[in-house]
Amino acid sequence: MTDTVQQLKWWQSGIIYQIYPRSFQDSADQDGTGDGVGDLRGITARLPYLKSLGVQAAWLSPIFTSPMRDFGYDVADYCDIDPLFGDLADFDALVHEAHGLGLKVMLDYVPNHTSSDHAWFQEALTGKDSEKRDWYVWRDPGPDGGLPNNWKSFFGGPAWTLDEASGQYYLHQFLPTQPDLNWRNPDVRAAMFEVLRFWMRRGVDGFRVDVIWLLAEDDRYLDEPANPEWTPGDIEHNSVSHTYTQDQPETHQYIREMRTVLDEFDDRMMVGEIYLPVDQLLPYAGTPDTPMVHLPFNFHLILRPWQATAVREFADSYDAACRKIGTWPNWVLGNHDQRRFKSRLGAAQYRVAQTLLLTLRGTPTVYYGDEIGMQDVDIPRDRMVDPAGLQQPDSPAASRDPERTPMQWDASPNAGFSAADTTPWLPLADDFATVNVQAQEADPHSDLNFFRALTRLRQQHPALVGGDYTSLDSGHEDVFAFRRTLDSQSVTVLLNFGAGERDLGDVALGQALLSSLDDLPESGAKLRPNEARILLS
Ligand code: GLC
Repeated sequence: MTDTVQQLKWWQSGIIYQIYPRSFQDSADQDGTGDGVGDLRGITARLPYLKSLGVQAAWLSPIFTSPMRDFGYDVADYCDIDPLFGDLADFDALVHEAHGLGLKVMLDYVPNHTSSDHAWFQEALTGKDSEKRDWYVWRDPGPDGGLPNNWKSFFGGPAWTLDEASGQYYLHQFLPTQPDLNWRNPDVRAAMFEVLRFWMRRGVDGFRVDVIWLLAEDDRYLDEPANPEWTPGDIEHNSVSHTYTQDQPETHQYIREMRTVLDEFDDRMMVGEIYLPVDQLLPYAGTPDTPMVHLPFNFHLILRPWQATAVREFADSYDAACRKIGTWPNWVLGNHDQRRFKSRLGAAQYRVAQTLLLTLRGTPTVYYGDEIGMQDVDIPRDRMVDPAGLQQPDSPAASRDPERTPMQWDASPNAGFSAADTTPWLPLADDFATVNVQAQEADPHSDLNFFRALTRLRQQHPALVGGDYTSLDSGHEDVFAFRRTLDSQSVTVLLNFGAGERDLGDVALGQALLSSLDDLPESGAKLRPNEARILLS
């Protein structure tokens, strides 16, 4: 079974590019200064850059009204833009401009929790009789007069905070200032579905749905069992297994309803943030009769060891599992919650990983800056701002600031991200004088031009987009080789995960289309250390 490229939807054939709006481009005010935080006008000005990358859609992390305690993942008004980023007119202009360039726009929909500043929660706090009380999850104290149970927040500490006025606790799987909405309440669902319609009417093409696998909790409120694999030093949230707070049957039902709302509009999509093993992940795609998310994010390239046989094994089983249920695969190497992949995997493997991401069967999602090889930035303690880090000083790796630093556009002060005399909200990487878009534009062998060569190959070779996937026996444990075939076209991808030269025999026969090591080798040539090579076979 082969999908012809014309039959594919934009979210199947295209690449999704994630923008973290605070860090993409701070546009100057009329007086020529910025405020050190990126904004919508900045993004609009950079849309031609996205076009030049060959990506299809821009996903913007949250831009809604927010006190920014979790940098926008704490929404105080779902239907307005935070003044830090601009206003609705700026947003409409962004969508207009993007569509003019043939780009799609995706927003970040945060349905699990609101900000405690949201009018709904403020109303709920007025007392047990409040009409919005049941919009959130409330429990009386436990038998000992303390916490209702042992549920934990992702950011450390309990998932419950006492509202002293009423003597009840409210649930928050993240910060105490991010109370969980009660999705069992149909009024909550109706209000949150209206939010989707509001943005789709404004032309939004799709949504990335925040922590979608957490929407419902088991309503017996039992203690979660201890996680035997947890070791002290690992984050506290992992000390229990999340039997009662994640992946509940009700969540599936709510997502089916959510999907019917998307389907009221033409050609819209949603991709769900879901950290689960494949057998629990793929059911989030639903069935042909009752579809759920279009793409359940597949984070397994981030979560599993970077090792050729392990990656092959995973790719084989995931591709087969997707085929079996007729769902479209997708791949991710990084996002605003994970270490930069160049830092995680090492510079030598950077292009091998980039090649893998852009040639496997399925939609790739690319995190801003990864196309120029941005790396994690060491953030001094006094500049740390991420609550996940600040609240868990004993788990330094919990901070997500290192992967959220400003985009490196050029070698000028503040890297062209923000006007020279401003202090960006997070420090810039030390390497920005050399690792930046402008310098890499000028260098035919740069990471940026390698990325563009990959996206061009996808455009020129439909097999790389819609073709079948088959892995090949390379004869070496550290080489992952696979083939993408469509009609008579066959493209082979060779990835050397190791630092040795490898003779692949017949597997390496074919005309080289691209190599991560610049010069194109002869057909059949040995695979060089850390080389990624693409062949027309
Ligand atoms: C998601 C987001 C993360 C945020 C959390 C709470 O995991 O990706 O950045 O902190 O949800 O909304």
